[in-house]
Amino acid sequence: MPEEVELEAWLAEQEEFEPPESFVERANVADANVYETFDEDWPDCWTGAAELLDWEERWETVLDDSTPPFYEWFTGGSLNASYNCLDRHLDDRGDEVAIEWVGEPTDETNRTYTYEELHREVNEVAAGLRDLGVEADDVVTLYMPMVPELPVAMLACARIGAPHSVVFAGFSADALATRMESAASEYLVTCDGYYRRGDPLHHKEKADKGLSRVDHDVETVVVDRLGDEYDHPMGDDEYDYDALVAEQEGAEVDPVERDAEDMLFLMYTSGTTGEPKGVKHTTAGYLSYAAWTSRAVLDVKPEDTYWCSADIGWITGHSYIVYGPLSLGTTSVMYEGTPDYPEKDRLWEIVENYGVTQLYTAPTAIRAFMKWGSRFPDRHDLSSLRLLGTVGEPINPRAWKWYYKHIGGEDCPIVDTWWQTETGGMMVTTLPAIDEMKPGSAGLPLPGLDVRVVDTKGEPVEAGRAGHLTVQKPWPGMLRTLYRNDERYVEEYWSEYSDTASDDPEDWVYFPEDGAKLDEDGYITVLGRVDDVLNVSGHRLGTMEIESAIVGVTGVAEAAVVGGHHDVKGEAVYAYVITEDNSAETEELRERIVAGVENAIGAIARPEQVIFTPELPKTRSGKIMRRLLEDIANDDELGDTSTLRNPDVVAGIQERVRTD
Ligand code: WTA
Repeated sequence: MPEEVELEAWLAEQEEFEPPESFVERANVADANVYETFDEDWPDCWTGAAELLDWEERWETVLDDSTPPFYEWFTGGSLNASYNCLDRHLDDRGDEVAIEWVGEPTDETNRTYTYEELHREVNEVAAGLRDLGVEADDVVTLYMPMVPELPVAMLACARIGAPHSVVFAGFSADALATRMESAASEYLVTCDGYYRRGDPLHHKEKADKGLSRVDHDVETVVVDRLGDEYDHPMGDDEYDYDALVAEQEGAEVDPVERDAEDMLFLMYTSGTTGEPKGVKHTTAGYLSYAAWTSRAVLDVKPEDTYWCSADIGWITGHSYIVYGPLSLGTTSVMYEGTPDYPEKDRLWEIVENYGVTQLYTAPTAIRAFMKWGSRFPDRHDLSSLRLLGTVGEPINPRAWKWYYKHIGGEDCPIVDTWWQTETGGMMVTTLPAIDEMKPGSAGLPLPGLDVRVVDTKGEPVEAGRAGHLTVQKPWPGMLRTLYRNDERYVEEYWSEYSDTASDDPEDWVYFPEDGAKLDEDGYITVLGRVDDVLNVSGHRLGTMEIESAIVGVTGVAEAAVVGGHHDVKGEAVYAYVITEDNSAETEELRERIVAGVENAIGAIARPEQVIFTPELPKTRSGKIMRRLLEDIANDDELGDTSTLRNPDVVAGIQERVRTD
């Protein structure tokens, strides 16, 4: 039977899966009472998470909720994140591998860092950064691909109390400049380049271009990844990473004692408006939450070889490649390349070679694996795997079952974890040794979390109905604010369902801007964003950001961007464009529009289709009807068009999408 047909049949047959017994026997968290105990003892239940860490000074108050929504966790305590990820493991696990780095283009470049070695390099880089003038609370921007120097630099920053702001390497020069300006960041660690499918990419050219658009002075450290392959000039304010490390050989830097609520890092993410939001995470709450969820949900143990295939440029990589796993003293695999190079079995080859025990990846990748077929994983022995995870977007039941069968060998629980940059760590998922799994549904709120699906009035919806996801109690990993913009923080996350005049925490509700559905067992199926944010291959992109990039292209008068379904990416960018009077709708303009988006944001935001149209469908009050544009992109039946000011434009646009 063809794979597809077989999966369909199975899909109809089985909708619930029990945790495999072999897994349950050894799981970190296997006591089903955990939900109840957390509820009864809230918020003190979170001391267990804080106790996973080593503290300089123990906290006095678990939760300070006196000025919602500006919550504080573990106040009065102090600690250092780099100490918790490194120093405290040295005695017992100094010779064990902390980071197993698998590079491109061949295995020859692979590097292994033991905890001892990682500790040494982090100290040297910390000393080097200090020499350049970095002090506690200075924001250091890290614009780097998946090279080991990225986690080294993150931990070096954490060591000296300097918050890092990692900018995804796929982002454009403009995106880098905007983020550096917004954070007033005067230090940058970047990289000369990296390999993609065997070809070197000259990353430094983008970094230079970005820096030329930053108004203040910046000191830059450059990692040499490409060696002789790429000769690049170094400016006056630029330092070679290797030279900096060599100069500090053997240096030791005392971990700086940080208050629980001191900022650990900033992470910019997309929102409804064009301007990216600087999500602020603090030291104690974030780190204890990353550690606790890694332990409870990913079942991370020190002796594991755990692999999260995300990019550290996103929150998933921060929490579940770097901070969570390293704080627990495990081996974290880090892969530089893509899943299909040199062959479509690259991931499975890595799982086999390293004996990977947990794999945490994204539905978009799973859909691609599924399309390529099971013969690629079948070539490899994947029996080392104990648990599988997914994150980033809803996973359809068919992809779930394919993953379960062909990767997990029907013997690994799958955790489908819903969370966000803002939440710091996982929020809704099954606990792998306790809860049964239902493909397509993320599962239950984690212990200690009050997640509810509500209607527009904030009332809980009945099972089977769609509503908005909300979080009704604070949690340790939550963002604390948007950097230097408390007002926008309240407005973006806390105004929809809260009584903003109240200082009673009960009246404050966090709104993540996702739609969701509940079933009769309380399982949550996340339906996707209800704001103007797209999810393309698990990457979060604001439609406004893309629109403003397009409108900036000469010859464009107006643009509307929506998401359309895509088999592998989940969503794809559809751009509807009105040209200026005297501009022709040419292929040349279309190319400039695509280039404009790549320059402003990056290739990840590239439109799948640019559709020229003389007009956009608008309501009588002049609002663009985005729903309709989505329906057109998906070639779905159109909803009601009678409220349009210009219903006759619709057929023409439909025609263009179909013929493009
Ligand atoms: C979506 C990534 C369904 C959701 C960690 C959320 C998901 C956005 C899931 C956050 C999931 C993430 N099921 N949807 N398991 N996980 N999402 O900030 O729309 O890059 O709001 O964080 O991804 O994306 P972000």
